[in-house]
Parts: sequence; structure tokens; C-alpha cells
Amino acid sequence: MSGHGTPIPMSSHRSTGLSGTADVPGDKSISHRALILGALSVGETVITGLLEGQDVLDTAKAMQAMGADITRDEHGTWRVHGVGVGGFAEPGQVIDCGNSGTGVRLIMGAMATCPITATFTGDASLNKRPMARVTDPLALFGAQAVGRSGGRLPMTIVGADDPLPVRYTVPVPSAQVKSAVLLAGLNAPGQTVVIEQEATRDHTERMLAGFGAQITTEDTDEGRVIILTGQPELSPQTIVVPRDPSSAAFPVCAALITEGSDVLVPNIGLNPTRAGLFTTLREMGADLSYENQREEGGEPVADLRARFSPDMTGVEVPPERAASMIDEYPVLSVVAAFAKGDTVMRGVKELRVKESDRIEAMTTGLRANGVAVEDGPDWWIVTGRGMGNVRGGATCASHLDHRIAMSFLVMGLATQSPVHVDDGGPIATSFPVFEPLMADLGADIRRG
Ligand code: S3P
Repeated sequence: MSGHGTPIPMSSHRSTGLSGTADVPGDKSISHRALILGALSVGETVITGLLEGQDVLDTAKAMQAMGADITRDEHGTWRVHGVGVGGFAEPGQVIDCGNSGTGVRLIMGAMATCPITATFTGDASLNKRPMARVTDPLALFGAQAVGRSGGRLPMTIVGADDPLPVRYTVPVPSAQVKSAVLLAGLNAPGQTVVIEQEATRDHTERMLAGFGAQITTEDTDEGRVIILTGQPELSPQTIVVPRDPSSAAFPVCAALITEGSDVLVPNIGLNPTRAGLFTTLREMGADLSYENQREEGGEPVADLRARFSPDMTGVEVPPERAASMIDEYPVLSVVAAFAKGDTVMRGVKELRVKESDRIEAMTTGLRANGVAVEDGPDWWIVTGRGMGNVRGGATCASHLDHRIAMSFLVMGLATQSPVHVDDGGPIATSFPVFEPLMADLGADIRRG
């Protein structure tokens, strides 16, 4: 598990002509939710395409500890026999969510309106991250939280015996907070209302509706108003998890900056709450096309085709697009280093409380590799050097953050000298097949 194992130093070396098909794994956000909602329904939910990264495996273990029966067959099909809304058993052990903010925050929400007590912990990264953003609204339902100072894990949540429904305006653009409140609302009587000023990924809403909950979303002057009717019986579902656009970002960006590349990344979900990176790359002049556009399971899907794009230019990313590409800014900053001119990213202070402070981690690593970067509390600007002109040669710290590790490894494919990463271990949290997948495309990424 990331943060618990021996560091895995990695390096990436100038490569040319990445080609072939990159079958990236299932969507992390959807995988967590499929397990949790499966655990909250009565009967058997069948999941294919589940991301088998450590973050999701930790959520599966947590659901088992709370009474769900979860199995995986030799074909990779997962079956979840749930306990029903309000039916979680009190776990006999501390729940270790590893590196996963999504896992811990969603599970806290789901158990906060059940009459059980659970203690949560994580790795060194997760135990630094703010939890008050979730425990504040959960307190409105009647749940109590006791954690370390600053609202950090390890933390114990005493679920409400007699939960109240809640009306809550999410103060930060966060799908995790929104989802924690909605999952808590599942076992509260009456209607729970969540209002978000900026639209964030809507997988929880879509999946709750799919499991048979009564849920509506309306865009109003106040923001996006989501109303959930509590205490439904959720019906088990068959879920095909789409592939993760956040993982697709790495082979796509690698192809754009690596001379002579032409890579196909099939079956990628282009839900507008997730696809901001691809829009931005196209604005920069990337040769990135959507082929075979279609709808699958109510989600827009396409095959992405990315080709080497030597003439990209920097852009100003509209701040209102931030939520739809929040996990992609690290790899965007790498592409920006190879573009001409400045790429300006504003309204991104949430990046400071991810698996690492991603602005700090990227700024430090980009500078060490010869790229000029300026940053402030909620903005950063990368001054591109143009294709072929990025020096490289430095070792970057991944700070227990999978996306930082993968971003710098993508960068080293096109720098003059190799780029080193102190620990590639965290990549297994979200993209366990990153190394073989990139090797198959022709990328020279090595251990050591
Ligand atoms: C996620 C929401 C985002 C994102 C994370 C996954 C989710 O976090 O960064 O990787 O699945 O709900 P925030 O809700 O903190 O923005």
C-alpha cells in the first residue's frame, strides 16, 4: 500500500513514436461509488470494469468490515451483497482508507446516519488532509466526530441514532463533500438538500438515481440544487464502470509531447463534469480528436486519439472549468512546459489539499527541471519553453501522490535529460497498470 511500502524510484527517458492503443483502467470515482451503493442495497450488485487500484480495494475492505459480502471472480467481475440503507454493522477494526480522500469521505458520509461508531485512518498523506469539510455537515445530521487537531485523521465518527435531514450549501467545490452529504441523507427521513455553487462531478447523483433513489437536480440562481428523498430501498444494479478520463490524461498528454506519436485511448467517459482537460488541450492546439462518439450507460463516451502536437500554445484556463479538470492540472502543467507562452491557471486553491499540495509539488519539480513557474495561493503560471526545449535531469518528489509521480514520468519522455521520481509506489492507488501500458506504447519508463 502506498506510503506503507519501500519507495520505488523511477525514471523516464526521452522516447519517440508512442503508438498503439492504451486501455486505461476503470474510473476511480465511479468504482468507489459502485461498491458503496452496492453495499447499501439489498441483493446482488454486479460490477465489471472496477478499478482494482489500492484506493478502491481499501473501500471494498471497508464495506466488508461494515457487513457487505464482496467477492471477485477470476474474470474480474465483482459481486456485492449489500446490507441495505441504514444496515451497516459496526466495524470491529479501524478502517484504513490508505491514500484515498474519496474513500474515507464517502464512507464517513454513508455511515454517519447509522447507529454505529467507526474509526478511520489513512497513510501519511491522507492523515494530513482536512476532514472538517465533511464532518461539519455530518454534524448537522446528528453525527459526532473526534479526530486529531485541525480535523485530521485518525478520527472516530459516532453515527446519529436519530438522524435529521439537512439542507446544506457546499462551501468549497467538492464532489466528495457533496457526496458525503448525499450518502448521509440516504438514511435520514425526509428530504436532504445539497446546493453547490459550482458543478462538480455528478456520479453520485447519477448512480443514486440508477439504484432507484428519488433524486432531482435543478440549476437555479442559488446554484445547483440537489434534493434526495431519504430512506429509499436501493435495488441492486449491474454496473459497467467506464474508463477513467483522469487516467486517460497520462497517455494522451504523453502522446502530445512525444515526437512522432499517435495513440488511441478508447472508451473514455466525457461527462462534462470530468472532461475539462481535453477541452483545454484542444484550445492549446493539441491534435486530440474524439472518435466514435456515443452514449453508454447514460454517459457520453468517445475514443480519444492523440498525436504529437509540436505547436501548442499556452492558454488561460477559465477558473469556472477548474472543477471539471481538478485532478488534471499537474499533467496539464507538464504539457504547458512544452507549449509556447504562458499557461495561466487560476481558481485552483483546492489543488493545495489533494493527496499533496499539488501546486507546490509541481512548481518545485518543474523548476528543478528548468521550467519557469510562478505561483500564488490559488493560481499558478507555467511559462512554456516550446517543444524539445525542456531540460529535465532532476529528481522530483512525488509526496505520496500518484498524479504527481505520473505527471513527472510523462514529462521525462520529452525532456533533454531523463526525469527521476523518488517514489512511483503511489501510482498503484489509481493506475496499477501504468508501467506496462506506457511500455506497450513505447515509452521508456524504468524502475530505478
Ligand atoms: C473525487 C472528487 C475530487 C477529486 C478526487 C475524486 C470524487 O475531489 O479530486 O480525485 O470521486 O468525488 P474533491 O471533492 O475534494 O474536489
